[in-house]
Amino acid sequence: MGRLSGKTALVTGAARGIGRAIALRFAAEGANLVLCDLEMDALREVAAEAESKGVGALARQTDVSSREGVQQLVDDGIAEFGMIHTVVNNAGIFFNAPFEQTTDEQYDRIMAVNVKSVFLVSQIVIRHWLRREIKGAIVNLASIGAAVAFVDSSAYCTTKGAVATLTRCIALEYGPRGIRANSMAPGIIDTPMLPSQEDNERWAKTAIPLRRLGEPNDVADVALFLASDESRYITGEMIFVDGGWMLN
Ligand SMILES: NC(=O)c1ccc[n+]([C@@H]2O[C@H](COP(=O)([O-])OP(=O)(O)OC[C@H]3O[C@@H](n4cnc5c(N)ncnc54)[C@H](O)[C@@H]3O)[C@@H](O)[C@H]2O)c1
Repeated sequence: MGRLSGKTALVTGAARGIGRAIALRFAAEGANLVLCDLEMDALREVAAEAESKGVGALARQTDVSSREGVQQLVDDGIAEFGMIHTVVNNAGIFFNAPFEQTTDEQYDRIMAVNVKSVFLVSQIVIRHWLRREIKGAIVNLASIGAAVAFVDSSAYCTTKGAVATLTRCIALEYGPRGIRANSMAPGIIDTPMLPSQEDNERWAKTAIPLRRLGEPNDVADVALFLASDESRYITGEMIFVDGGWMLN
């Protein structure tokens, strides 16, 4: 019996990187999956790999910053599996730019993909949970950038601070209904999102006490804990998954 047997999990941005690892980790623990991304070829491969573990997996091309798109995704997931028990708001984007050169378009897009998506997905799923009295769990991807500043990353760090705050507000507001919300703050995780291999190697040698970059599975294992009943008395937390970065 898997740790998520009989549950359905919605994971955004599941085509690659951390989202892919979370989707496959949850599938290995028996969860049916409602997956979305913009990259459909890669997402279909993730869904097929999940199904080979004996669970159901729905793959949809959804832009998480669109209310209509997210509503359709949730409706399709409920139609397929009956209900959704847990949500991982993972989809996100990153860019490097000096603060004074960041454009309105860059700022608006990163706020929409990294923050508005968490508002939309969480709100639409919470409405479903309230109607059905489901004690669901939300897991959001923040970042160490929610707690410390990085040069040339002001817009990204701002979005992750917002995700951490939104997570705490949801946890407070819906705790009395048995709904939990937590976030994870990964450090430097080896995925296609990372802009510079040179920086990563330098960080691994100097700023990361465990002396290696994180792997997507390091984050997926924590997501599993936060989505499962093992974390039943934890809500509103942000868990650092950073190899000790925050000790510096
Ligand atoms: N990699 C790291 O070091 C790191 C550190 C801290 C936090 N995070 C966070 O973890 C999450 C996953 O990051 P990753 O490193 O796996 O990134 P990634 O770029 O490898 O994967 C992100 C996925 O999200 C998808 N996506 C982007 N915009 C989307 C949209 N509008 N709608 C639907 N899907 C969309 C992409 O297509 C991609 O498959 C992000 O929220 C990121 O900010 C990553």
